[in-house]
Amino acid sequence: MPMQQGKPRLQDKVAIVTGAGRGIGRAEAMLLAAEGAKVVVNDLGTDVLGKGADQSIAEKVAAEIRAAGGAAVANTDSVASMEGGQRIIQTAVDAFGRLDILINNAGAVRPKVIFHMTEDDWDSMISVHLKGHFTTIRFASPIFREQKSGVIVNTASESGLGHFGQASYSAAKEGIVGLTRTVARDLGRYGVRCNAIRPRAATRLFDEGVADAMDRARATVGPAAAPAIHQSDLQDKPEHVAALVVWLCTDATANVNGRTFVVGGNLVGLYAEPEPVRSLYREGGWDLDTLDRIGSQDLIGGVVNEFLPR
Ligand SMILES: NC(=O)c1ccc[n+]([C@@H]2O[C@H](COP(=O)([O-])OP(=O)(O)OC[C@H]3O[C@@H](n4cnc5c(N)ncnc54)[C@H](O)[C@@H]3O)[C@@H](O)[C@H]2O)c1
Repeated sequence: MPMQQGKPRLQDKVAIVTGAGRGIGRAEAMLLAAEGAKVVVNDLGTDVLGKGADQSIAEKVAAEIRAAGGAAVANTDSVASMEGGQRIIQTAVDAFGRLDILINNAGAVRPKVIFHMTEDDWDSMISVHLKGHFTTIRFASPIFREQKSGVIVNTASESGLGHFGQASYSAAKEGIVGLTRTVARDLGRYGVRCNAIRPRAATRLFDEGVADAMDRARATVGPAAAPAIHQSDLQDKPEHVAALVVWLCTDATANVNGRTFVVGGNLVGLYAEPEPVRSLYREGGWDLDTLDRIGSQDLIGGVVNEFLPR
């Protein structure tokens, strides 16, 4: 476990990290344990596309935490089903008697350009990411509401902002940002916080899942369609992401709720909340003729669209 200086920040708190058998989730589980939290290490053990199951990887991380003197149990349920979500939450209650922290991190990728995307590519991304956040939050929230405390950190992605070849993943991830804002409002009145991150880290999901598949997808439509992935991204470590996530679970961020952060390598940042950048009003509403008269210059601002052919 990473060594931290001073008093542990999360002594005896009980935390769940989904998808903690590898990558970012593993780093989050290790740091939570180093800070004194008891951890449920959830992982179904899928491949990078979200297929298959390997029961051993969650237990491996839990055993690593225990060997270092921490407290951890493994859970191998899928976040993508209601039963799975319920069992993951129940595992914390059964093993440690309570729940304080929920980190939703489990995920997979299926990059494909939209005209090749299958129903299964779509459904699997919505299930593991968007529904996979709902299933755990749904069963954690009555506990948090009752005890009037709790912290949730969700995992969105910069892909949600629009990312070539990632329609299903982007849609699910941006859904998580909306879910975060609303859960922050639903539970904030009970002293429960819910924030989201858009992480960057050189994990297998990035290397095998995104970089390679994006190269293939780019080849479908031509090299100019999307910029190549920047090599410096590959230096970003999961541990860089874990620090911000665990900090969001501590009392140092007791006033932070409903916000979205970017984190990776040397960077931490706060996202703005969206608002209209230009608003026009017309008595009686708008019709096609009046919209034609103002033209896209007035509403859009005459910006050249970089995604259209030049
Ligand atoms: N790595 C990046 O740069 C990056 C960027 C943006 C977002 N993310 C997000 O961060 C999260 C972690 O990704 P990572 O890069 O560490 O990937 P990873 O592949 O290393 O880890 C993801 C883990 O989730 C598990 N998992 C998959 N489906 C599951 C399910 N149904 N139930 C339980 N566990 C399941 C996998 O077995 C795997 O161990 C994901 O949500 C991903 O979308 C990562």
